[in-house]
Amino acid sequence: MPSHQSAKEEIKRAADIVQVIGQFVQLKKAGKNFVGLCPFHAEKDPSFTVSSDRQMFHCFGCKKGGDIFAFGIDYHGLTFPEALKDLAERYNVQITDKFSAIEEKKKSKLRETLLKINEAATLYFQQALSKTAIENPAADYLKKRAISNEIISEFRLGYAPDKWHGIVDYLRRHKIDLERAVQAGLIIPKKGGGYYDRFRGRIMFPILNLRGQVVGFGGRVLDDSLPKYLNTPETPVFHKGEFPYGLHASFKAIRQKGIAVIVEGYMDLLALRRHGLDEVVATLGTALTDQHIRKIKGYAKEAVVVFDPDEAGRNAALRSLPLFLNEGLPARAVVLPDGHDPDSFVNTKGLPEFLKLLDSASSMFDFFLAQKLTQDDSDIEGKVHALKEILPVLSQLRNAAQRSLYVGRLSERIGIKEEVVLSELKSFKQNRSGDAPERGLKDRLKGRKLDKKIGDIQLLNLLVHHPKTITGLMDSGCRDLLSDDTASKIVEVIFDKYRREGQFSPENIEDTLDNDDVRIRLREVMVADSIYSDQEVKQAVEEIREKARQKRLSDSVAEVKGDPEALNKMLLSKRRAQISY
Ligand code: UTP
Ligand code: MN
Repeated sequence: MPSHQSAKEEIKRAADIVQVIGQFVQLKKAGKNFVGLCPFHAEKDPSFTVSSDRQMFHCFGCKKGGDIFAFGIDYHGLTFPEALKDLAERYNVQITDKFSAIEEKKKSKLRETLLKINEAATLYFQQALSKTAIENPAADYLKKRAISNEIISEFRLGYAPDKWHGIVDYLRRHKIDLERAVQAGLIIPKKGGGYYDRFRGRIMFPILNLRGQVVGFGGRVLDDSLPKYLNTPETPVFHKGEFPYGLHASFKAIRQKGIAVIVEGYMDLLALRRHGLDEVVATLGTALTDQHIRKIKGYAKEAVVVFDPDEAGRNAALRSLPLFLNEGLPARAVVLPDGHDPDSFVNTKGLPEFLKLLDSASSMFDFFLAQKLTQDDSDIEGKVHALKEILPVLSQLRNAAQRSLYVGRLSERIGIKEEVVLSELKSFKQNRSGDAPERGLKDRLKGRKLDKKIGDIQLLNLLVHHPKTITGLMDSGCRDLLSDDTASKIVEVIFDKYRREGQFSPENIEDTLDNDDVRIRLREVMVADSIYSDQEVKQAVEEIREKARQKRLSDSVAEVKGDPEALNKMLLSKRRAQISY
């Protein structure tokens, strides 16, 4: 079997990073690269860049980046061996796993084991749900709730029998390490020794990640007892709020329609799916998180959030506005009629009515305004209070046109003059610390392009994009022209590599760098366009050599200043050198 290095190479040859990342992030072509909204930090303008030429990604905002494996590690939270294995399986590359560090291996091994146990448990719950009615009241319950068999099998629903040692015995029979099953959250150790089932007498909803693996479960009682839902606790494979429920099944429909409908509960999602609305995900009762939204915006152009009509639902809507604004995912909000959740609504009124409701959804901002201003905004206190609450949200809007639109709406609605709102907004923004407006990606990538004076950027760009210039620059002393250590380190590495190997290609250099700043800087140079055209390269090299020579000269002048004899000697030798050059 090939070594891990060659497996890595082989995968890199077989896989296309644009395609792999494109499954999770909406990318569009921008010059020779692809750009999209970064899945790793909040942003509204795309700084996340994927280079097909270089087979690497880099975010100019948060500086995360790397190759196809780094993406698996950062996006899916994998260890390197897991990322390697994942891609190897997908691209039919044979790998050995002798290579990875003990700690990483342990972590991957544990997670692999927990996922296997979850899979076994899912099968156990599914079997239990297929049994006859006497042993299995759950099938009846689901029928009553209008959940079809197709939905049951698509979402792998199951039943945890009302026993203390149901899954414990099952796992034991299957020779599964019960301590691991404890770690998976499926069973609980007894004080006096032994174990018991965590989920008893519950409908089981497996929670699948985007790779189709069962990472955890939710379990619902069949009656009114409490807690209504019991969920898998935090485990090495299950993190609450990481991604919304159902995304594994709905991402295709979401991308196709451009819209993600966001609901709260398992039952809401399943009911909508049964009625034929596929582009839906659920937050499982927790507030929407930025992680949820980042995953969703990998597929959706817009979100419609359906909130329950209670106080909690309203508050959830209000809290979600800044998240959506920050993440740059346009969102609308709709509140259901009193007494309804999406499940009850669609089951009593049908899908067309639900779709009508979605159509009527107003933008999240209007919804926010309407909510904030319902209370006691008639008196001055109330107005000021409302304004103070909305300003932080408004100030997050980077798009000036959008902002002025909202300022207008706000002033109209609240009855405070637009100038006043604007000046309040201005002073609010000034009071916030160090939040300088970011430059757009285009500026950052190209802003210095026209200015071709020789500096760090130009030199690095030249060496990386036109490696044939290395020979001409290696002995020029050009490193002295650099203004910072990071750039200098990169140039050093490039020259070093060239000296040792007689050639240089930036592709595999990342592994040899031990400093994050250096890595980040190098990636930025790699995914940027070449500053110089092929015709300009030669001239640029000449200019750099000349500049380096002048720098050397003036440096030595500075050194010998105050020693006229030495100065004269030095100038003479410089002149000779110049003549012979
Ligand atoms: P709901 O109470 O609205 O439940 O909680 P539901 O989805 O409508 O379920 P049915 O229709 O009564 O069967 C919404 C979501 O909040 C989470 C669950 O994910 C649920 O789907 N939740 C709720 C819990 O995690 N624990 C609870 O005790 C209650
Ligand atoms: Mn419900």
